[in-house]
Order: sequence, then structure tokens, then C-alpha cells
Amino acid sequence: YGTQTIGKDGHLYIGGIDTVRLAEEFGTPLYVYDTALMKQKIRSFKEAFSKHTALSWQIAYASKAFSTLAMIQLAGDFGLSLDVVSGGELYTALKAGFPAERIHFHGNNKSKDELAMALDAKIGAVIVDNFSELNVLDQMCAERGQNMEILLRITPGVEAHTHEFIMTGHDDTKFGFNLDNGMAERAVLLALRSEHLALKGLHCHIGSQIFETEGFVRAIRAIFSHMNVWTRKMNFHMKVLNVGGGFGIKYTGSDHPLPIGRFIDAIVDTIEDECARHSLSVPEVWIEPGRSIVGEAGTTLYTLGSSKDIPGIRKYIAVDGGMADNIRPALYQANYEAICANRANEPADQSVTIAGKCCETGDVLIKDALVPESFKSGDLLAVLCTGAYGYSMASHYNRLPNPAVVFVEDGEASIVVRRETYEDLIRHDVPLKTFSSR
Ligand code: LLP
Repeated sequence: YGTQTIGKDGHLYIGGIDTVRLAEEFGTPLYVYDTALMKQKIRSFKEAFSKHTALSWQIAYASKAFSTLAMIQLAGDFGLSLDVVSGGELYTALKAGFPAERIHFHGNNKSKDELAMALDAKIGAVIVDNFSELNVLDQMCAERGQNMEILLRITPGVEAHTHEFIMTGHDDTKFGFNLDNGMAERAVLLALRSEHLALKGLHCHIGSQIFETEGFVRAIRAIFSHMNVWTRKMNFHMKVLNVGGGFGIKYTGSDHPLPIGRFIDAIVDTIEDECARHSLSVPEVWIEPGRSIVGEAGTTLYTLGSSKDIPGIRKYIAVDGGMADNIRPALYQANYEAICANRANEPADQSVTIAGKCCETGDVLIKDALVPESFKSGDLLAVLCTGAYGYSMASHYNRLPNPAVVFVEDGEASIVVRRETYEDLIRHDVPLKTFSSR
């Protein structure tokens, strides 16, 4: 991936830095991000759009994939917009100095406090998810004498081919206004009637880790089949169509993601065709990639510890992290590949199971990992492609402190999140004043 190379010393290098050195300096587990690769991903999105010269577009980084001050700064510096889904993500974005007018606020249950934060900060758009939110936001705007631009999240009834838990565009989902049962039409009508909400356009997101353009094409067509009616019936002109994120990446050799340009071409061509067919003007196109910007750029370094060889069954080797820093294998049966980072030049022909150190059987990071024959305690393991939904979904399960995060580029490493300490773990604990042993 990206700037990963194997040095003459047999070590894995990322961004021109020896991962063995990184592990010594910052400890393990360690999340390492190749910033050059993230920038390259951003550029490929931009290039894909710039081919469509007549089009206006925005690329909003979905910060749920990986949000820290440094990451938000990088996204801001590269001209991205930002999708946030909670007060915490919004707070992080504002603290990172991200331009408020480029922030879009998502979520199916934004609290009044969160909406107030968004209104105070005068963010670019709220993506309204349901009728209660439409009502609450309208009232809050009226009370404050403030206007807010909104998109309505539409559930287009399209199933993307991905894991059930991260599939979002089908009918039975907690998200959005369903297209086919009149909910979406009623939401458009209410939004148009509001004095304080300016209905800029529509949003849909059909799922994550998607490998085909078909779902996007079907979702866009479904929306336009109604747009045609809404424009005539309600005089609704869609200035923005946000088609969400979900562009698939290569976790392992068996993943074959499409080049980003193929997705963007399919999305833009479909929108332009539909507009021509229904004599509508072409809206600005927004997308919200998360995983596809940060996923492949992240590597987690672990130190190997104990092992257990069950003859004829399998050999377990345990790392000093696991489901607390990467819940994805346990939660979604997600697959990863790994390499022995201090002996990356040796043939990897031994199949082992990489286990975590958490107290449950399901804490297995990789079921069949290929490692060198001499793989042993103390070796450094690099699990590849962990940049998305790893750190952001990390927990303190078993009271494991969250690992540190470093950005590497051109031979320089910058710490962007410090490793938590045991003190951090009990920082918010309040001990009992008196303790009686009954
Ligand atoms: N926009 C919306 C409205 C979303 O719900 C999501 C992801 C995205 C954009 C970004 O999707 P991406 O480009 O990253 O695929 N924790 C799961 C993924 C959950 C995705 C939730 N929504 C995982 O680890 O696979």
C-alpha cells in the first residue's frame, strides 16, 4: 500500500520510516498513517470529478472513519468538506479549525444540544433524517431567528451488496425518509413550507465497502423518478444531490475495488442522463467517502507475545492488542492481511491464527495469516489496511488503553494521538466515599 517498502534490512518501511523504529519509539500497538497515500486518494477523487468540467461538486470526508484533530486539519487543508455525525465529531472539527460552512451534520437522532452547536457554529448544512428532527430544527431556527440549509436523507430502497450491519439504503432501516411510501414526498413538502429551513437538496447513502456502481445508479434513478413529479407538483428544485460514501477498498488479495473514477463517472453520468431525460437542471454533486480516503493508509503495528500450538488444529499467536483496537473482525467477520514487519523479506509460508489479548474467544484478528517459519515472540506484526473504523471504533474493553496514532511522510513521524495511560482509564471514575464491606 502507498509508500510501503521493504528495506535492505528486511524491515517494513512506511513513509520512508522503519516500522521497527516506530515501534521502539512510540510503543505498540501503534496506528501508523501514511499521509502521502491519504493525499493521493483525495487527489484521485478530485481528478475524477474535474474530468466533468460542467459540474459543481464537493467531496466531504466522512469523519466517522477516523477523526482526530490532525486528520481533520489534513482534510481541511486539502479542500475537502466534512461529514460529522455527532456533537463529538463536530467539536473535533471546530477545534481543528475546520471551516464551519463546509461541515455537514448527519445522524438519525441529533439531540437539541447537538443541533444548537451546529446552529451556533453556522455549519454548511444539516442532513435531516426524520420528521421529528425536521420539526425540532424548524422550531429551534424560528426561536433563534436563524436560517439553516438542509438536505433530506432519502432511503431509496436499494440494497447494496455488503454486510447486513452496514447496509443502509434498503427499506427497513432506521435512516432517512423512505421514497416509496410517500414519506420522502411529505418531508419535501414540509421542508419547502418552512420559513427557516432552506431545502438545498437530497441525500442518500446506500451502504459501505461497495464494489459495484450499480447500487449508486439505481438509487439515483429512484430519486429522479420522484424528482420529476416533485419539481412539477411542488416546484422543488434540487440544487444538491449527495450520494453518500461507501466506495470499497482492498483489504486483502481477494478484494477487487473499482478505480474511484469508475464510481464518479457512473454517478455523474447517471445524474446528467436523468436530468436530461426529465428536463431538470443538473444539481451540484456531493459525495462522502470515509473508508476510501483513510482505510488503506492505516497500518497497525503489534508486538507478538505468547503462542499456543494445537497439533493438527492450528497455531495461535497473540498480539498485544486485538478487538479493543480493531473490532471489525469480531463484529463483521472482516478479513485482513499482515506481514512480519521486522522480517518482511523472509518467505511467509506458515499459516497461523493471529489472536488478540482480550478475554473472549472471538478476539481473533486474522484466522489464517501467512508468516515466516521462524515467526516468534517479540516479532513485530503489521496488520494492513486498518485506517478506517479501527481507531474510531476502539474501546477500552478489558481496560486496555487506546494506542497512539502517528502520521508518517518523507521520513518524518508526527504523533497525532498520544497513547493513553492507566491514569487516563480511571480519569472519569468516581470512587465511593465510604466503602463498607458488607
Ligand atoms: N455517509 C454516510 C451517511 C454514512 O453513513 C457513511 C458510513 C459514510 C458516508 C461513509 O462510508 P464509507 O465511505 O466510509 O464507507 N463501521 C463500519 C462502517 C460503517 C459505515 C457507516 N456509515 C465498518 O467498519 O465497516
